[in-house]
Amino acid sequence: MGSTAVEFKNPATSTLLEVVKARRTYYGLKAESPISDDVIERIVQDSVLHVPSSFNTQTSRIVLLLKEEHKKVWDIAISAMEGLVAAGHVPKEMFENHTKPKLDAFRAAYGTVLFFVDYESLAPIKEKFAIYADKFDPFALESNAMSQYLVWLALEAEGFGANLQHYSPLIDEQVTKTWNLPASWKLDAQLVFGVPTSEPGEKTFEPLENRFKVFGK
Ligand SMILES: Cc1cc2nc3c(=O)[nH]c(=O)nc-3n(C[C@H](O)[C@H](O)[C@H](O)COP(=O)(O)O)c2cc1C
Repeated sequence: MGSTAVEFKNPATSTLLEVVKARRTYYGLKAESPISDDVIERIVQDSVLHVPSSFNTQTSRIVLLLKEEHKKVWDIAISAMEGLVAAGHVPKEMFENHTKPKLDAFRAAYGTVLFFVDYESLAPIKEKFAIYADKFDPFALESNAMSQYLVWLALEAEGFGANLQHYSPLIDEQVTKTWNLPASWKLDAQLVFGVPTSEPGEKTFEPLENRFKVFGK
């Protein structure tokens, strides 16, 4: 699987691909950090600034939550899930044995990065390039996903473990209210990070030949 020995012209390419290969989903995390909060902040800021977006529309919005502020987002999720249990939409047993321990594990981490898309900011460009109008929303989400991936890679390169969660729309209203965010920021994903307390699960790979072709080599 991509095992032919090759030599990169730039050692940074090799390092980049090592970081890509090392990134995994870590669920066991603790509330410690191997780096300063300023370094975490820089990683997130750089992803906001330098990840590309279609037509340079810059639609991603990101909120970095650390320590006590991080815990709040998982308290919001726990209380929203408790509401679903009380309303009879989620079985109590499932919540207590499965959902609650999972949410408690996220809460036990060091921080959460909230990734939003501001779709409303696309109104003028949709009007200007009407022919692409239906493409801008998916492009904005793709650009957001690029930011998610970059932050995930960089945090793990710095010694964190992380996992990517999707509790929208369940938590949206409370998130907007708690941090007084603009109503146009639509939550997409939550990246939970902390120092790993357990190894990632086993991962299998579809054979590369089923997923990749090259022509003209
Ligand atoms: C777009 C996307 C959405 C994902 N959503 C979730 C999620 O909601 N909850 C979760 O626990 N993991 C989620 N994951 C993590 C994947 O399950 C995980 O990346 C995949 O199984 C491969 O494992 P690895 O991350 O260890 O390489 C998501 C990953 C991607 C790329």
